[in-house]
Amino acid sequence: MINPRVFVSRKIFPEALELLSQVAEVDVWPDELPPNPQELGNKIANADGLLTTIMDRIDASILDRAPRLKVISQLAVGLDNVDVEEASRRGILVGFTPGILSKATADVGFALLLSAARRIGESERWVRAGGWEMSFHPMYWLGAEVNGATLGIVGLGQIGLEMAKRGLGFDMRVIYHSRTRKPELEEKYGLEYVPPQELLSESDFVSLHIPLTPETRHFISEPELRMMKSTAILINLARGPVVDTKALYTALSEKWIQAAALDVTDPEPISPDDPLLTLDNLVITPHIGSASVSTRREMCMVAARNLAAGIRGEKMEHCANPEIYPSKGL
Ligand code: DGY
Repeated sequence: MINPRVFVSRKIFPEALELLSQVAEVDVWPDELPPNPQELGNKIANADGLLTTIMDRIDASILDRAPRLKVISQLAVGLDNVDVEEASRRGILVGFTPGILSKATADVGFALLLSAARRIGESERWVRAGGWEMSFHPMYWLGAEVNGATLGIVGLGQIGLEMAKRGLGFDMRVIYHSRTRKPELEEKYGLEYVPPQELLSESDFVSLHIPLTPETRHFISEPELRMMKSTAILINLARGPVVDTKALYTALSEKWIQAAALDVTDPEPISPDDPLLTLDNLVITPHIGSASVSTRREMCMVAARNLAAGIRGEKMEHCANPEIYPSKGL
């Protein structure tokens, strides 16, 4: 019998590859940059399984190149790069890594919030550029107070909830808007559910935690930015296209809002000559939300276990399309 084959589209933790090698022949993409669609198509032509990251676009045209594929395992919680419906139509299981990265991602969210509020990046650049000429001035480098401020969470999934908990630790008032209202969390944590307009107009910090879908693309655009307080700070840790980049540039440069902090951009990576990067009221990190050693290791292990389970014909720890299990006798 021919051994199953899996293609792993990026280098991952060796222990995860070791786990995969117990169930299949493993081919790992060796380069730093991801395979382009042509290269990916070549690599999966004979593959039974595929481990992907958010940089691999998995749509009908790429799946046409992989007639044997049984399972896709995404090394992320977000699945906007994978056409899950199309995979389901073809009987391909899709795994993902929810939950594991919520705390690490919210840590970066709160670091961004604090950094934008207290102007950490901007003042550090100033020190490095030789600007610090006197020890202290009562009117220098004033920023926004975080304690007691209102934090507006858009999307109360696992990452949104972790962000809310961090806000509560700073004695913030936490309001939220989510597709579904969560009375048990309101009760447990003292969160207040509000309509989107109220969230935008009342929050001192608006933090985005929604998946990218056709409905959430440009969820924040000119009208929403105009609804926000002139002292408000926008934080995006979700997906870049959830915010209309051009509108954000205008809002920041014309000071409709105070500042923004982004861990994700549209496009990603952001071009080094993107006008956003000229603004001092922007804090930016390169999609590092889940990038702690232990979280990334665990994400790799879960993605490997999901892939191995799919290859063995077993249920996965985290499956995005479990509705196709019965068609696979599971
Ligand atoms: C995710 O999991 O969706 C992140 O954006 C990548 O860690």
